[in-house]
Amino acid sequence: MAKTIFITGTSSGLGKLTAKHFAKLGWNVAATMRTPEKETELTQISNIKVFKLDVTKQEQVNTAIEQAIATFGKIDIVVNNAGMGTYGALELATEEAIDNQYAVNVRGPINVIRAFLPHFRANRGGMFINISSFMGVTTAVPIGSLYNMSKFALEGLIEGLYYELKPLNIELRLVEQGGSSGNNFGDNITWNTDENIKAYDAITAKIKLLMENRDSSHLGDPQDIVDVIDSLATGKSNQFRTLVGDMGKGLMELRKSVPIEEYLSTVAKNFE
Ligand SMILES: NC(=O)c1ccc[n+]([C@@H]2O[C@H](COP(=O)([O-])OP(=O)(O)OC[C@H]3O[C@@H](n4cnc5c(N)ncnc54)[C@H](OP(=O)(O)O)[C@@H]3O)[C@@H](O)[C@H]2O)c1
Repeated sequence: MAKTIFITGTSSGLGKLTAKHFAKLGWNVAATMRTPEKETELTQISNIKVFKLDVTKQEQVNTAIEQAIATFGKIDIVVNNAGMGTYGALELATEEAIDNQYAVNVRGPINVIRAFLPHFRANRGGMFINISSFMGVTTAVPIGSLYNMSKFALEGLIEGLYYELKPLNIELRLVEQGGSSGNNFGDNITWNTDENIKAYDAITAKIKLLMENRDSSHLGDPQDIVDVIDSLATGKSNQFRTLVGDMGKGLMELRKSVPIEEYLSTVAKNFE
């Protein structure tokens, strides 16, 4: 019998690529997104069913999961992929921007995981694959503290959950995206700004430029990340954490090899 994968944030980027990949492999795919009425590609693929789901809205999460189970019977793998980035100096962030970063990247996976647990317990197993970032295991740029906070929190949540879900045969995986080119994650970045405070203008301009000119050779190719999700979902890999992309790997090696003070000053020097 075909297996079923449930994915959040499939309107673009990694989520969409993952949905198409698993459909091609013959899996059933529950592809969820905030605005299914706009979707024209995934709706054409026979083994993909599209459901409306905003991860910050528990009612929508519950309804989408109920509909997916009613459609496919059993969900084997859940991919917590939906995410966005809030960048810019913390001092300039609005209350709403701070709350939204947490709501999407942390509370979102919590909402999805909690709503799926009764189904996975009834099935005596299941797997949550969580899309994190190298920014979830280390720091890398100034004015990224809110995004760092959200992915560090996701990492802590998933690592902590390991102990309570392992006895129930419910597996957890973290995929640390190295920052990938070829998708529109940049469009999902909210920038904190305040025209009355100029103190962060220079560094903000530097980081914006850096993001616009991201060197894809150091980032994970989106297909490499899909291949990692494939290996985890099919059991070819049982790694708890998988870091993708040279940039993240280089930073992690540095972080492990020197005291934190040296790591911080080395990274900071890149932005002087
Ligand atoms: N690309 C990178 O450089 C990078 C690096 C490290 C980690 N990541 C992580 O990788 C994951 C996928 O991102 P991506 O690179 O594929 O970027 P993307 O193309 O911007 O995809 C993000 C997806 O999340 C969805 N989303 C945002 N807020 C949502 C909400 N409240 N409820 C449901 N869906 C929501 C977006 O849907 P809408 O179309 O409705 O906005 C979109 O489908 C994210 O978790 C991101 O944090 C990305």
